[in-house]
Amino acid sequence: MQFLDKVVWITGASSGIGEALAYLFANQGAKLIISARREEELQRVKQNIRSECLIITLDITDSNSLELAVKTAINHYNKIDILINNAGTSQRSLVVETQEIVDRKIMEINYFGTINITKRILPYMIASGGGQIAVVSSIVGKMGFPLRSAYAASKHALHGFFETLQLELKPENKIFITIVCPGRIKTNISYNALNYDGSAYGKMDEGQEKGMKADICAQKILNAIYHKRREVYIGGLDTLLVYFKRYVPSLFYWIARRVKPT
Ligand SMILES: NC(=O)c1ccc[n+]([C@@H]2O[C@H](COP(=O)([O-])OP(=O)(O)OC[C@H]3O[C@@H](n4cnc5c(N)ncnc54)[C@H](OP(=O)(O)O)[C@@H]3O)[C@@H](O)[C@H]2O)c1
Repeated sequence: MQFLDKVVWITGASSGIGEALAYLFANQGAKLIISARREEELQRVKQNIRSECLIITLDITDSNSLELAVKTAINHYNKIDILINNAGTSQRSLVVETQEIVDRKIMEINYFGTINITKRILPYMIASGGGQIAVVSSIVGKMGFPLRSAYAASKHALHGFFETLQLELKPENKIFITIVCPGRIKTNISYNALNYDGSAYGKMDEGQEKGMKADICAQKILNAIYHKRREVYIGGLDTLLVYFKRYVPSLFYWIARRVKPT
């Protein structure tokens, strides 16, 4: 019971990694808040959870609903110990074809949505004596990758924001931030990814199909949060690209041009 009675808010909990995280944290004794846009999917997830679980349906891009969501959560549990910023959407389109509306939408969800909910919860966390914030970035938050221009940009932006936040917080705030960078994980992410015109890509990519299982990824995220890791890379051989980019950039460019991006 590593998280007994901890109040854990997971965004993007209606499927994939977020759903798997919800089950794991519930099994570890946490009291949950699960959020996403699709209420019926959140109800389905809640049915599989035996511990306390509050559904707060929200679109993370809607600032007004975030305000209300945070008040609802605080009224219910009086505190939030752990926020897991997991909601996100991906992309499958070339830079030269991608319409501005797609660039903006991806930034709205992955970057602005994430920082807006974080900024609203932070004062409560500070007032209650501390907490933890995890953000699900991607290995594409550490490097560029074909067909992912806006997605990579949005995830890079999260690193800038959350590293800065960690530096600004004082030790006495007792708030610890974990940045999670998964490689390919088998979820519906490619189905929900955006095409050049904002339509849904709607396919399971071969790369995704062969990816790590969501529950294994979620277990590694839970461990990273438990051990207060600053940054973790989770996945298969794809995570090596992060190290190639850092230490042998020419090798990174050689490989990343040849990896099938779908
Ligand atoms: N799967 C991978 O290979 C992979 C790799 C690296 C990083 N990641 C990251 O992992 C996170 C989870 O993705 P996943 O793989 O589990 O994909 P997923 O199954 O498509 O889940 C995405 C989640 O985000 C929610 N979401 C999307 N837009 C939202 C919005 N505007 N407001 C609120 N919730 C929203 C979705 O719920 P609703 O549709 O119900 O709103 C869903 O619960 C994402 O941040 C993704 O970038 C995934």
